[in-house]
Amino acid sequence: MCGVCTSALAQTVPAPTTPPDPPRFDAQAFPNFLGAKDLYDYEALPEYHEPDFVAAMVAKGELPPVKDRLPNEPLVFKTAAMPDGIGVYGDVMRHVVGARPEGWNFQAGQSQGWGGIDIGMFECLTRTGPLFQVRAEELEPLPNLAQSWEWSDDGLQLTMHLIEGAKWSDGAPFNADDVMFYWEDNILDPNLTPVTGTTQETFGAGTTLEKVDDNTVLWTFKTPFPKQVLYQMAYGDFCPGPAHLLKPEHPKYNPDNTYEDFKNAFPPEYMNYPVMGAWVPVEYRPDDIIVMRRNPYYWKVDEAGNQLPYFSEIHYKLSTWADRDVQAIAGTADISNLEQPENFVEVLKRAAEPDAPATVTFGARTIGYSLYPNLSANGWGQPDDRAQAVRELNRNIDFRKAISYGLNREAIGDSLVKGPFTAIYPGGLYAGTTYYDAASTVYYPYSAEGAKTLLEQAGLIDTDGNGFVNFPADAEGVGGQDVQITLLANTDFATDRSLADAVIAQMEQIGIKIIGRYMADNQLQAARNAGDFDWVINRNGSSLVSVVQNTAELAPTGPRVALQHRVGTDDELDLLPFEQELADVVDGFIATNDPIERIALMKTYQQLYTENLYAIGLTQYSGGHILNKRFSNVAAGLPIFLFNWDVDSIFRERMYVAADKQQDYELFPDTLPGAPGSDGPVGL
Ligand code: GLA
Repeated sequence: MCGVCTSALAQTVPAPTTPPDPPRFDAQAFPNFLGAKDLYDYEALPEYHEPDFVAAMVAKGELPPVKDRLPNEPLVFKTAAMPDGIGVYGDVMRHVVGARPEGWNFQAGQSQGWGGIDIGMFECLTRTGPLFQVRAEELEPLPNLAQSWEWSDDGLQLTMHLIEGAKWSDGAPFNADDVMFYWEDNILDPNLTPVTGTTQETFGAGTTLEKVDDNTVLWTFKTPFPKQVLYQMAYGDFCPGPAHLLKPEHPKYNPDNTYEDFKNAFPPEYMNYPVMGAWVPVEYRPDDIIVMRRNPYYWKVDEAGNQLPYFSEIHYKLSTWADRDVQAIAGTADISNLEQPENFVEVLKRAAEPDAPATVTFGARTIGYSLYPNLSANGWGQPDDRAQAVRELNRNIDFRKAISYGLNREAIGDSLVKGPFTAIYPGGLYAGTTYYDAASTVYYPYSAEGAKTLLEQAGLIDTDGNGFVNFPADAEGVGGQDVQITLLANTDFATDRSLADAVIAQMEQIGIKIIGRYMADNQLQAARNAGDFDWVINRNGSSLVSVVQNTAELAPTGPRVALQHRVGTDDELDLLPFEQELADVVDGFIATNDPIERIALMKTYQQLYTENLYAIGLTQYSGGHILNKRFSNVAAGLPIFLFNWDVDSIFRERMYVAADKQQDYELFPDTLPGAPGSDGPVGL
């Protein structure tokens, strides 16, 4: 019997191979690399300055003098590392987003609408977005709210010094209590998860944090020198919220409140929410706009002592992600990540015209999508009989291989955009990134015949002749029924929808019936995090691009870390053997600082991932960055997504518009944020 199937198999299933080289794409730009210490430092300067209207408010006694609003040693951006040098105040940065704000409580799980709203509001212990321009030898997270740190001799403890004397945008002191509230009452509280999915394991299993004094915290780890953890202290995993506002609403301190009450205590209508970021929300009109004004207590300056940011106002128009591209290229908005290939050709045509208001630059191919099969068989998301039977299939390697063989990735890429933009993506690390190794990448090339043979091998045959395979007659609760799989996809992006459509059509060709479950981002994230899905199409996170950012997310390294596999009803992770190996490799990577060993580990990782199809890659491409031509201080080679999104990497607080190019876009000129919870900004 077996001899027969092997030879039949050999005839119809093509041998796995390595993926073809991605097409050449000459429009990509690269950075002028510099050292991490060249970017900024912390230092007291002899004098400080602020915009004239702020100085006028100080003169009227409405605000303390700028030097008293700044920390003892502000963060100072170095002029030599600024592409255009010291800037001038004025003008506005106009963003567009496609999502909608749920509220301001990021740390308890609310989305602010993405697109950089949260990144502009919340500052984190370290910062990694701007590392795209830092030389590989010096790659280490940049300081931010944590000004410096040192390791104990045995490497088990890390002492972090927080910036001293910094204040929230309402003037309340920022200190170790904010950090500890985030740790103890968000991260360690099992009822709450930040919107970015951070858990205790994000910082290493068994890691603890204590307050030493107002400006010092102490980390204790289970393994020596887990330097990788410094990347996790950047966006979006260690960005504390304002404890002075949050604590009184938290159920532990307020017995009248439930966790839902806490999460929803600061809805989008709540204005002047205190932040450590450069801008504060002062106006919200549903489905229209969020306006933010400068944080008068922002703790960063340039070398001339000008308090940052240079823009006193930024806008977020609440529209669609596709409209973000359209408006940015038309000049009615200022910045966009051209990440939906459906828009590439139109945008590039307009950008090529001499009077185009904006430029488009491309970086490496760091935008990619995969199909994630739910790999839990022990109850995560409470599957019914059908969903449980699909989970069992998802866990069968022949089934996953059948899906991969059944996907014509070239056609998928072409369905988004024709040309050299997209590349075949088998899954795992992206081609062209630091740890990628083509020889360790296993690719199951398109073969509908091969796919069908493997489905048969997995016990799936079209027994009723309707064109779709059926579950085996003895399958529990679903015996003989058509295999029916639901596919979760995000309707906020045209690309997610196009990819889902393509997957559904291609799966039909091999006899698998897929039902699309299309929903808006906020709902999709909730369903996904609850495990309520068979398959989900997802834009991959930064771990597959940088490896060093969000490393733990590369594998199911903890109970609630992996997108496609979290603990079941028994609180256990029922990992497949290869998943356990993947997790061990990733833990090994985190535990070592030896570059050679790390390279070897990532080769093993790539092999395990792609051979076993931990997730099934669909396509990868380079995103373009659209930016209005009037802006200064933008470093070359900005990737739209590497360690983090462009809005972190670009240093918005250091960007400016030269005086002769400034536009009159301010909606609330000469005002500052009002008191937390009060309506709108305040002026003279
Ligand atoms: C969304 C957008 C991205 C980027 C991020 C920032 O995901 O699609 O381009 O702006 O928000 O968080």
